[in-house]
Amino acid sequence: MAETYDVVIIGGGPGGYNCAIRAGQLGLKVACIEMRGTLGGTCLNVGCIPSKALLHASHLFSAAQNEFASLGIKTGKVELDLTQMMAQKSDAVDGLTKGIEFLFKKNKVDYVKGRGKILSKGKVEVTDADGKKQVLETKNIVIATGSEPATLPGIEIDEERVVSNTGALSLKAVPKKLVLIGAGVIGLEMGSVWARLGSEVTVVEYLDRILPPADAEVAKEAERTFKKQGLSFKLGTKVTGIEKTKTKLKVAVEPAKGGAGETLDADIVIVAIGRKPYTEGLGLENVGGKTDKRGVIEVTDHFKVADGVWAVGDCIPGPMLAHKAEDDGTAVAELIAGKAGHVNYDLVPSVVYTNPEIAWVGKNEEELKAAGIEYKKGKFPFMANSRARTNHETVGFVKILAEKGTDRILGAHMIGVGVGEMIAEVCVAMEFGAASEDIARTSHAHPTLSEAVRQAAMGVEGWTMQM
Ligand code: FAD
Ligand code: NAI
Repeated sequence: MAETYDVVIIGGGPGGYNCAIRAGQLGLKVACIEMRGTLGGTCLNVGCIPSKALLHASHLFSAAQNEFASLGIKTGKVELDLTQMMAQKSDAVDGLTKGIEFLFKKNKVDYVKGRGKILSKGKVEVTDADGKKQVLETKNIVIATGSEPATLPGIEIDEERVVSNTGALSLKAVPKKLVLIGAGVIGLEMGSVWARLGSEVTVVEYLDRILPPADAEVAKEAERTFKKQGLSFKLGTKVTGIEKTKTKLKVAVEPAKGGAGETLDADIVIVAIGRKPYTEGLGLENVGGKTDKRGVIEVTDHFKVADGVWAVGDCIPGPMLAHKAEDDGTAVAELIAGKAGHVNYDLVPSVVYTNPEIAWVGKNEEELKAAGIEYKKGKFPFMANSRARTNHETVGFVKILAEKGTDRILGAHMIGVGVGEMIAEVCVAMEFGAASEDIARTSHAHPTLSEAVRQAAMGVEGWTMQM
C-alpha cells in the first residue's frame, strides 16, 4: 500500500527545497519531486549561482587588466581561459546542488526524481526519465514549479546563437558583437559579464530607461556608469525580427513609438525580457486551480490554491527572486505544521550584482510621489566615504527615504560597490519599523562602506557630517 505523506512538493528550486527542509525540521513526512536531475531549481542550476560565478570571475579579469596597475600591482599579459572560467562556474553549481541533497537526507526529505502531475486532491503522479509512473498520496500538495524565460513572438530561441538566460551562461566563445534584448536585471548582469570578457555589447530596451523597477535616480547613475564600462544602450527601441545568415545575426530594431528602423549586426543575441510562471502539464485544473492572463497561479492571502493545495515562489504573485521563493516555501511549511507562516512582500530586497552593485528595498521616490506620501530624503555619495576612496571605489550613493511626519524609513536605494550586502541593514531596520534616526544614531565601524548608510540616514534630518 502507498505511503501517505504530510506534504508532497512539486519542484526542487528555492521555493520547493526550503519548504521541504523546513517541513522535515518540523517533523512532517515530506517528499520533493524534481524533474531536472539536480536539485536547486533555476537559481542554483541556471540562475543566481552560475551568473554570480561568472560575474565574480569576469570582474577580477577586468580588474586585473584595468585596476591592478593603479594599486601598484604589476601583472604580465592577462589572458582569458574561458573553459576554466566555465568549469569553476560548474563546480560551484555542482557543489551547491549536492549540498541540497545532503540537507534533504539530514532532514529526512524523500527526493523523488521525475515530473510531477496533480491527479486530484491528495494524489500526485510522478513519471521518471524512463517513463515509469508512481502515485504519491499526501495530505498537502505544494506547487513550486518556478518560471521559464519569456519569449518574443517571431523570435526563435535556439540556445546556440539566439539564447535565453540559460544559453547566455554557457557561450562557447566570447562573441565579438553581442545584442541583449531587455535592460532589466539579466540584461545588465550578463551584459557586464560579456563586456568584461571582450564583447561589444548593445542592450536594446523597449522603455526609455534601464532597470524599470529601480529608483529613477539610481537607474540614471547606473546607465552612466555602465556606458563608461563599454555597454551601449538603445532605449525606447523594439526588436522586430532577427535574420540568421550563415555567419551573422541581423537584428531589426525600430523606435518603440514608431519611425525609421535600423539593423544591428550580432554574433549572439540574448533575449532577457522577463520570465513567466511554469505550469506546463501540472494538472492544476484537476484541483480547480486557476492562472491569470500571464500564467501566474492565483492564491489566497496565505499561499492557498485549493483545500490541501498550496503554491510558492516564481509561479505565484510577487517578485521573482530566490529569497522571496525561499521565504514563501518556509512560510507554507510552517502553515501546514499549524504555525503562523507569513512573508512581508513590501520588504523583499532587490540586488543587481553588477559592478557597482545596485540594491533597494521599500518604496522609491516615484512610488511615494504617485501615492501622495510626503517624505524626506537623505543622500550620501561614496565619493565622500573614506573606505570607498581608499579602495578606489567611489562610484554611486546611498539614499534613504523617510516619512515626513514620523521619520519611519520607507525605502533605501543604493548604487555602489558592496551595496548588495549593505541593504540587509536597512531591511532589518524597516522590519522593526525603524526611523531614519535609529540608523543615524547607531554606531557603524570605521572605516567601512556601511558608514555611507549611516551618513545618508543622518542626511534625512539634515545633519550629514562627513560631507
Ligand atoms: P525555480 O527555481 O524555477 O524551481 C522550480 C523547479 O521546479 C525547477 O527545477 C523545475 O525543473 C521544477 N519543476 C517544474 N515543473 C515540475 C514538475 N511538473 N515536476 C517536477 N519538477 C518540476 N534571484 C535572486 O534572488 N538573486 C539572483 O541573483 C538571481 N539571479 C538570477 C539569474 C538568472 C540568470 C535567472 C534566470 C534568475 C535569477 N534569479 C535570481 C531568480 C531566481 O532564480 C528565481 O526567483 C528562483 O529560482 C525561483 O525559485 P522557485 O523555487 O520558485 O523556482
Ligand atoms: P526583467 O523584468 O528584470 O527585465 C526585462 C526588461 O526587458 C525590462 O526592462 C523590460 O522593459 C524589457 N522588455 C520587455 N519586453 C521587451 C521587448 N519586447 N523589447 C525590449 N525590451 C523589452 O527580466 P529579466 O532581466 O529577463 O530577468 C527575469 C527575472 O529574473 C528578473 O525580473 C528577476 O526576477 C530575476 N533575476 C534576478 C536577478 C537578481 O536578483 N540579481 C538576476 C537575474 C534575474
